[in-house]
Amino acid sequence: MNSEPISILIVEDQELIRLGLRLSFQRQEGFVVVGEAADGLSAIKKAIELRPQLAIVDIGLPGLNGIEAGRRIKASLPATKVLILTLKDDDDSILDALHAGADGYCLKDISQEDLSEAISRIVDGHFWIQPRLGRRLGAAFVKQSAGAVEGETLTSRKREILEILTRKLSVAEIGQLLSFTEKEMEEQFAPSQSEAGSADAKPQGKQSSGPRLFVGTVFAGRYRIDKFVGQGGMGRVYQATHLMMDRKVALKLLHPQFIDDRKLVKKFHQESKSASLLNHPNIVTIFDFGVSDDDIPYLVMDFIEGCGLDVILRESGRLSLTEFYEIFSAVLAGLNEAHENGIVHCDLKPSNIVVERTARGSRVKIVDFGLARIQPVGKGLQFRSTDAFEIVGSPLYMSPEQCKGEALDQRTDIYSLGCVMYEALCGQPAFNGSTPMVVFMKQVEEMPPPITREMLGYEPPQALVDMIFTALRKAPSERTMTALEMRQVLAALSGEKFGKTTL
Ligand SMILES: Nc1ncnc2c1ncn2[C@@H]1O[C@H](COP(=O)(O)OP(=O)(O)OP(=O)(O)O)[C@@H](O)[C@H]1O
Ligand SMILES: [Mg+2]
Repeated sequence: MNSEPISILIVEDQELIRLGLRLSFQRQEGFVVVGEAADGLSAIKKAIELRPQLAIVDIGLPGLNGIEAGRRIKASLPATKVLILTLKDDDDSILDALHAGADGYCLKDISQEDLSEAISRIVDGHFWIQPRLGRRLGAAFVKQSAGAVEGETLTSRKREILEILTRKLSVAEIGQLLSFTEKEMEEQFAPSQSEAGSADAKPQGKQSSGPRLFVGTVFAGRYRIDKFVGQGGMGRVYQATHLMMDRKVALKLLHPQFIDDRKLVKKFHQESKSASLLNHPNIVTIFDFGVSDDDIPYLVMDFIEGCGLDVILRESGRLSLTEFYEIFSAVLAGLNEAHENGIVHCDLKPSNIVVERTARGSRVKIVDFGLARIQPVGKGLQFRSTDAFEIVGSPLYMSPEQCKGEALDQRTDIYSLGCVMYEALCGQPAFNGSTPMVVFMKQVEEMPPPITREMLGYEPPQALVDMIFTALRKAPSERTMTALEMRQVLAALSGEKFGKTTL
């Protein structure tokens, strides 16, 4: 059975071009021209009267120009798509059309075949821009990344076009459109080492985890994007520069879905505010947060040179005892400070512990305090069907109470840290399984395998094993040690060397 042809309104002041378009659509199946207009105002009238699926609109029209006509058509008929078909290939025109909400942008030298393809894709809900224009943007972009001299770099208009496109197209589509090489794509979009190939069950659909920004663009009027660092379940992290202060920062953009409702916006502000009040060498400093003009919630923190503990563990398998004492002594110092101030992290895991190795030792900072609390459902797990589910947070480090969606307090952090410590010491997760569901069940019901000499290759210090297993008790009331007490155990085990340090 044939599906209905796509109904088209042609808006073009030159009669000859109108005729050409009409004839070309007559010759093809799948399209029907339902009307024509030769100026902007009659285009709007005709569109309202005929309700076409798509209007092909020229820019240069008598009276109201095509971009404005397109904007008004879309305002009156949200279901109607607008494809700009023009001779104008300058950035200003493209940008104006994008701002006016056009669904596609074609040049008049487009082949009939490509035009049909563009229309079909647009009607299917995609955005379309002529590949030649995309390639031009891509080339300018590559030049600027390679440090081209002033004048050849990306103009602010090109940057803005790219920014708008990144919100309309998928990663693959952008790569194709800009003719990026694989390497260029990787530099812009590929996840960092820190999250590649983890055995842990990460949220699905990560490619849509938060807005993408191009290197060189300026975010919220003051942060220049320098490098894509990585992405997690809640958003993306970029290395950026605060332009006025010339200061290197980490910019975390959260997925707009996290603040889709007002309560969550409030919560985001509350959590970010309390986290920003924490002032401790082992907690990353947050010095700005908010929601940008285009509704992207963001956090700005100190950029930590170094890498996540997840990367370190992946690279070296596990920590030596000395490294263990050093890193966790610092983590516990930071955690204790937060707990004493009534702040719970709720998402302690290796990627949220960032380690910078300096000549004097490791500088360790905890990131993402309280962010897990602004999940839309307030729970760790949302079932979509029996075997496909989406999770916020990682099941490998989630406390039993978190897995069950119960109320959380400081003791959830103690448990999660117990999981991280077990893995750092033994080189394998405390609870592992082939699916997230299996891991959840184990978190709620099982204790991890004992830590043995065979596992480590040396006799594990009993006090350390006892401490980790106390942290991993199922009932929060049985996790009897505070972060401070755990830190004291490590200090005693490692001698005074790490007793007072907050490296
Ligand atoms: N302030 C920072 N400085 C340097 N790198 C950072 C900073 N904050 C985060 N990172 C790194 O950026 C990457 C992405 O972090 P992100 O928090 O988005 O992912 P995640 O921790 O895996 O997941 P989640 O969204 O659940 O926290 C991680 O490798 C993390 O270690
Ligand atoms: Mg994180």
